[in-house]
Amino acid sequence: MHFTGLKSVGESWQQAAQYLDNNVGGTACLVAAMERASVQRLVFSSSATVYGQPDAVPISESAPLRTTNSYGRSKLLCEDILRELQMADSRWQVALLRYFNPVGAHTSGLIGEKPTGVPNNLMPYITQVAAGQHPFLRVFGDDYPTVDGTGVRDYIHVMDLAKGHLAALHYLEREGKGIAVNLGTGSGVSVLQLAAAFTQATGIAIAHQILARRQGDVASCYAATDLALNALAWRAQLSIEAMCADAWRWEQSVRNL
Ligand code: UD1
Repeated sequence: MHFTGLKSVGESWQQAAQYLDNNVGGTACLVAAMERASVQRLVFSSSATVYGQPDAVPISESAPLRTTNSYGRSKLLCEDILRELQMADSRWQVALLRYFNPVGAHTSGLIGEKPTGVPNNLMPYITQVAAGQHPFLRVFGDDYPTVDGTGVRDYIHVMDLAKGHLAALHYLEREGKGIAVNLGTGSGVSVLQLAAAFTQATGIAIAHQILARRQGDVASCYAATDLALNALAWRAQLSIEAMCADAWRWEQSVRNL
C-alpha cells in the first residue's frame, strides 16, 4: 500500500486538490473519451516522483512505488488507474514514461516552457539568475550525502525525452502490450555541478547562496536506463552542456518576445 496521506507537510489542501483534479480527473476523462473513440493505446507522462524517497540509486522500474507530496500522489494514482485498466481490458496498451528531470528547450529557441511566477525548478531559476532577474541561486541544502552535499538529479534534455515518446509508441505497436519505463540519462548531477555546467556552456557565472533543505526533497535521484535501452532501443544522447545552452537560448527568446 503506497498511500500514506494526501498531502505532505507544508502543502495546502487547495494545491493537493488541484493536482488531483488536473492530473487524476484529467486522466479519467481522457480514458473515457478514448474508450468512446475506440482508441486504447496511450503514452502517459508519468514522473520519477512515483519512486518517492528511493532506497537505492540508480532507480530501477521495479523499485517500490511511493510518494512524498501531492503531485507525486496524483501521478501515482494516474499510473494505478492505467495499470488496472490494462489488467481489466487487454485491448488497452499504456506506456508509463517515468520522466526524471526534463530541462532545456527546442534548439531553435522557439519552443520551451515559461514558468509563471518564481520557478520552483532548478534550471529555469538558473537561467533567470543568468538574465539578472534574481541576484543569486538559492541552493537548498549542502549537507546531503552526495558528491558536494547538494541534491543530485538526472537532468534530461526535452528533445531526448520527445524521442523517448516515439520509441515508446513504436514499442506499443510492435509488442502489443504496455510498459512502465524510466526516461533519464542514468547520470546524477548535483546542484552546484549544474550551475558550473551552465557557466561552462554560456560563459555566465552563477552566484549562489546556501539555504536550508527544501521540504520533501530527496538527496539523490537518477535512473537505471537498461530497460529503456533494451525494450525501447532508446537512450538519451544530449549532454548537460547542450541542456544548459538550449535552456539559455530559450530564456533569451522569451525575454525578446
Ligand atoms: C521537482 C518536483 C517534482 C517534479 C519535478 C519535475 C518538488 C519537491 N519536486 O523535483 O515533483 O516531478 O520537479 O522536474 O518540487 N534546487 C535548488 N534551488 C532551486 C531549485 C531547486 O537548490 O531554486 C535543488 C533542489 O533542492 C533539488 C534540485 O535542485 O536538489 C532539483 O530541483 P527541481 O528542479 O525542483 O526538481 P526535483 O526536486 O527533482
